[in-house]
Amino acid sequence: MRRLASISATDAVSGLRRSEQAIRARVDLGDRMLQGLGTRGDPLGRFYTDPLIGQAFVSLFDRRHATSILDLGSGRGSLTVAAAQRWSNARIQTIDLDLDAEKYIRLGMASAGHQAHEHLVADVLDEDLPEKVGQSRFDLAVCNPPYTRVRWRNGFARILADAGMNHLHAVPPTALGSDIMFVAQILRLAEPGAEIGVIVPDGLVSARRSLAVRQALLERLRVMRIVQLPRGSFRGTEAQAHVIVFRNERGRGDPVEISNIGIDGISSPIPVRAEDAAFRMDFSFYKSTKIVRRGFTLRAIQAEIVRGSLSSAAARACGEPVFHTTGFDQTSPFTYRLSGQSLGADRPGRRIAEPGDILLARVDRELQRKICVVARGRALLTDCIYRIRVPATWRDTVVRSLLSEGGQAALLRVSRGVGARMLNREDLLDLEIEAQ
Ligand SMILES: C[S@@+](CC[C@H](N)C(=O)[O-])C[C@H]1O[C@@H](n2cnc3c(N)ncnc32)[C@H](O)[C@@H]1O
Repeated sequence: MRRLASISATDAVSGLRRSEQAIRARVDLGDRMLQGLGTRGDPLGRFYTDPLIGQAFVSLFDRRHATSILDLGSGRGSLTVAAAQRWSNARIQTIDLDLDAEKYIRLGMASAGHQAHEHLVADVLDEDLPEKVGQSRFDLAVCNPPYTRVRWRNGFARILADAGMNHLHAVPPTALGSDIMFVAQILRLAEPGAEIGVIVPDGLVSARRSLAVRQALLERLRVMRIVQLPRGSFRGTEAQAHVIVFRNERGRGDPVEISNIGIDGISSPIPVRAEDAAFRMDFSFYKSTKIVRRGFTLRAIQAEIVRGSLSSAAARACGEPVFHTTGFDQTSPFTYRLSGQSLGADRPGRRIAEPGDILLARVDRELQRKICVVARGRALLTDCIYRIRVPATWRDTVVRSLLSEGGQAALLRVSRGVGARMLNREDLLDLEIEAQ
């Protein structure tokens, strides 16, 4: 399973199962967030994300390095603290209207050892929010907004216009919840190209009444993926919700990857055409219609494959942590720990593996068995290793598929040589792999 952060989606789900009964007993709020409208009990919609889900949430982003992160409606910090752990060098800005939130979030950030953090008590729906936050723009944003119906304010027209979402004026105000207004505010504060992940209610991705909103989002944003969360992802409710990960760029009509987090981790993503995604974006729908992909190639999923740089002699003489084919000896291929930390920038001639990278032997007698995912640490790579980077939702599928019987047979088929075998990069890119 993916272990980009210190926890995998599988761990998140098992943890949730354990606490499921406790949640049920504590409060039975039914599906009020499911409807996205009925947070009658709390006008601020304070349903906090389970911290385990926060960790799985940050692993859905592609971006390896972030400079400045925004969390609107940060609450007690489940998403922010997970973000601080994943992007430890980033400056983080949190904003919440609830006066109580600040002390919890400061505690969380202190326990994560993150100091570059500023918190603002403010109304996210304020049209002057950018002035209150200051001039700086963010290159990454995390958000679990309140799912409440908001009364239309004059300032909303300006917020939507600044966010490039003018067309949402045409949407009946009943379909415009606080979640969409939070997204619009994020866009006003985000750099072009910023990567943004927002947890949204089921109604927004599947209900007929939200069709125009989905169309507007797909036009204005480059939606990369939608991941259905397990029930019980939030404290105090069994609501169904989804994560949408997008870039602050105009939609290009590319297929959207739709998957879910289940007991086996993140499922193999189903590519859904943008026009179909406007109709519905929920994994349950596409899974039940059995549009399941059978095979894929690394080229088709836009994998980046680079070869390590150190010769064996250079590796032996090197004083820094190096990963070579002899290093494929840890128990689980999904949780490899490398011993290095700050090795400087990756560049040609000095290729570095870091968390989230898939490593595969390029030259070896048993290269088909030598595959792993880096969960922690960094290391220089020898020229007998390929480093494979794939979109976040594909990582588990690629590793599971390559490690399967069929995947190993395919690697043997395309590799060459007697004794030590060798794998060509182009052949690897075009290898037909059956999705597991
Ligand atoms: C669903 S909770 C999510 C909290 C946190 N992000 C998490 O995932 O656990 C929504 C948060 O938004 C805050 N909130 C609601 N309306 C707000 C507003 N108008 N301005 C700022 N914060 C608001 C609430 O206080 C709450 O902390």
